[in-house]
Amino acid sequence: MRLFLRKIRRLWLFNFFSRVIYATTYFNKKYLQILKWGFKSKEYTNYTYELTEGNIANLAHIVSVVTNEDYKKTLGYINEARNDDKLKSYIIEQTQKSKMKKFADLRCDFGRRLGWYAFVRIMKPKIVVETGVDKGLGSVLLCSALLKNKDDGFTGEYFGTDINPDAGYLLAEEYSSVGKILYGDSIKSLEKMNNAIDLFINDSDHSAEYEYQEYKTIKNLLNDKSVILGDNAHCTDMLSKFCTENSLKYLFFQEIPKNHWYPGAGIGIAYK
Ligand SMILES: C[S@@+](CC[C@H](N)C(=O)[O-])C[C@H]1O[C@@H](n2cnc3c(N)ncnc32)[C@H](O)[C@@H]1O
Repeated sequence: MRLFLRKIRRLWLFNFFSRVIYATTYFNKKYLQILKWGFKSKEYTNYTYELTEGNIANLAHIVSVVTNEDYKKTLGYINEARNDDKLKSYIIEQTQKSKMKKFADLRCDFGRRLGWYAFVRIMKPKIVVETGVDKGLGSVLLCSALLKNKDDGFTGEYFGTDINPDAGYLLAEEYSSVGKILYGDSIKSLEKMNNAIDLFINDSDHSAEYEYQEYKTIKNLLNDKSVILGDNAHCTDMLSKFCTENSLKYLFFQEIPKNHWYPGAGIGIAYK
């Protein structure tokens, strides 16, 4: 019997199937998640999910390295957003009121945007720009960080851009008191800006060429302390290319969504 097993293991076909079946065990759980999500969720794009605890710790470490802020303080800011019940109920209420609710889930999870929030809380930026706002989840979160900064004595403004006139439905008072959305093509809106940008988040047209053009358009509005966050960095190497060309440092954070089939996006981070 042992001899028979040893012989069969040497067969290419047997090895092929046992290796391939083992490899599928890394993905099978995903199919179950896809099925559950198919029944439970109404989203078709820009998915909502939590990150795993370990992934949140990685995010806090990366933000703390870039900003030179203490890790525990950075994690504290991330948890401030995660535990902001007022913000969460506001987002769920705005979603319920919106005509887009048939494509949205009544939940509030920020994924990688928690890193954006921590950057705002640490950097205390005067101007934050996010290109591509969609529902406005990032907009509201960034404005909530600016409002917290205001309570601490630091004022700042948010500008979002979007080509879709229906975008940004989540952004209303009191969050809109520190932020507004500029409707139209993002590059055209960026060309009209003349204030220094402290934090720039690219998340609009996801073609590599458009993304690169956005970085080139705002290049002269950056200062030595400015940070660029690229939300397309899991798909293109445009931000890393921009960093190489302009002697900036570059890091990448990869999301690990919790209980969701989506493999996760990321944050490309450019800084001096
Ligand atoms: C991935 S979504 C943005 C998600 C958002 N940042 C968030 O945190 O949820 C991309 C958005 O970019 C907008 N967009 C696409 N092309 C654009 C362009 N040329 N100018 C401005 N916005 C654009 C789309 O209408 C869409 O709302």
